[in-house]
Amino acid sequence: YSSEDAKLFQEHGLPEDVPHIPGVTEPQLCILDAFRTSIARQIVGVFPELTIEKVYDGVDYGKKGADFTVALPRFKLKGKPDELVKKFTEAFKPDTWVESVTATAPFLHFQVNTSTLNRQVLNQIDFLTKNKSKDREYGRNDSGKGKKLLIEYSSPNIAKEFHVGHLRSTIIGQFLANLHRTCGWDVTSINYLGDWGTQFGYVAYGFQKYGSQEELDKDPIKHLLDVYVKINADGRQSEEMGAKVKSEAQGFFRRMEEGDEEALAIWRKYRDLSLAKYQQEYKTLNVDFDVYWGESKVGKYWQDQSVTRGEELGIVETVDGAKLVNLEKYKLGKAILRKKDGTSIYLTRDIAGAVERYEKYKFDKMIYVVSAQQDMHLAQFFKVLELMGFDWADRLEHINYGLVLGMSTRKGTVVLLSDLVREASSVMHDQMRKNEDKYAAVEDPETTSREIGITAIKIQDMSAKRINNYQFNWDRMISFEGDTGPYLQYAHAREIIMLLASYPDVVKVAMKTREPSGVVTFMFRLAHAISGAWEILPVKSEANIEIARARLFMFICAKNVLGAAMRLLSIRPLDRM
Ligand code: ARG
Repeated sequence: YSSEDAKLFQEHGLPEDVPHIPGVTEPQLCILDAFRTSIARQIVGVFPELTIEKVYDGVDYGKKGADFTVALPRFKLKGKPDELVKKFTEAFKPDTWVESVTATAPFLHFQVNTSTLNRQVLNQIDFLTKNKSKDREYGRNDSGKGKKLLIEYSSPNIAKEFHVGHLRSTIIGQFLANLHRTCGWDVTSINYLGDWGTQFGYVAYGFQKYGSQEELDKDPIKHLLDVYVKINADGRQSEEMGAKVKSEAQGFFRRMEEGDEEALAIWRKYRDLSLAKYQQEYKTLNVDFDVYWGESKVGKYWQDQSVTRGEELGIVETVDGAKLVNLEKYKLGKAILRKKDGTSIYLTRDIAGAVERYEKYKFDKMIYVVSAQQDMHLAQFFKVLELMGFDWADRLEHINYGLVLGMSTRKGTVVLLSDLVREASSVMHDQMRKNEDKYAAVEDPETTSREIGITAIKIQDMSAKRINNYQFNWDRMISFEGDTGPYLQYAHAREIIMLLASYPDVVKVAMKTREPSGVVTFMFRLAHAISGAWEILPVKSEANIEIARARLFMFICAKNVLGAAMRLLSIRPLDRM
């Protein structure tokens, strides 16, 4: 490999001749790559008909106590498994990286050199932690270098409730944004507010009847929702009332669409106040956006164009005055682009919005984090864009997720994000108070209980595959005990170091599956291994100072890796609780 690579390795405290496959491995970021390369080299040495890249791909995590295992059949070598295995084991030469091989045909099981492993893994974590920068942190890789991601998440509707769907989008979306940054992508995160529509008509009319400027300033999101709920209740009182409320609301929204400055000023006030409140709440959640956009910002031009262009291409038809695209042959029903009365709709804004975003950002990938309840909607507008001939339509990706069942506070159903956070803090605070001694040692119980409460919500949300529905459960969520039992079994240093070494791989797998749950599983395995090792590998009571130091070093590295994984999930690590 090049002298440039050699220099890079030296700068990272690695030996100059670390096993490396140029363009494939990154041992300066993931030391396990070096062990895998060393194994691959030996195999290619014995079977020269294979390429090193191909063999490297076939070096898996070990089975049956081995560190790494290779299944020979995947290389389609000529000869009997028994003979192939024998040929290799006889030729194998131990080196600084790999110590021994055993075989149960057709598998080869490798054991790596423990002292090399310990030294290299801990040095790497230590080096990358001490020299941390925007693009250098343990766990990172450069697979997304030079690529641009636009990712949309959270996207609540102003003047309506913040429901669990928005919560999940917020949590999963922030994870995916962090994950792509960790994999070297240039990420722009965007919040696509539901800030346009008849709901503003209801709120504006409701405000005339029930509004209070004082309440609005105090908690705009809550007050606007209250007003919205009250005016809708009025509408249900009688047919007459219903008609009145509806026509007032639609009238107001029409004025907004026509650009009536008076109506727009009211709309803008509601939007600005709500947004300011949301921004505070996102900050509390350790969530952030580069761009606050919204349905109101989608221009007329591409909304009209999508109809015109579709008509020219012969994919749009007029039925009863409405313009639609028939997608039945793709099992996607009929997508309405323009209603009979000419008003714009959600789908049209998404089509036009995607075109505008492409023109502005020229993304390599655009991700929409939206509930599985909107699978049909997303599939429809992706398809329409494809049929309209936009060659970037295949860069759009819908990341979906299931429902949360029964999310509630002790007072009732959650409708506001702020209620949920407050409840999480107070449930957690009650729990902490149960242990008086520990409680007394916590400096700032307010902040601490809020952070742990938020952590509990996030971890519950990200523990299983995204698409699964789950039951919201405060008791399970806030419990301090996990199923640590079985994990004590393998909780000794070697296991911990292998786990630490695998973190860069965990990041890459998460990138492939777009699943936070693998990262959560990794964290619990590591946490369990550490708490098990705590007793078996004491630091303070160890008489041999060298051994005590080595152990402490390992625990510090473990803490750093756990911290990196938590931050990936948008969780702020606490020092004390
Ligand atoms: N505001 C929408 C809702 O609450 C979600 C927006 C999803 N994103 C999109 N581009 N359609 O249902």
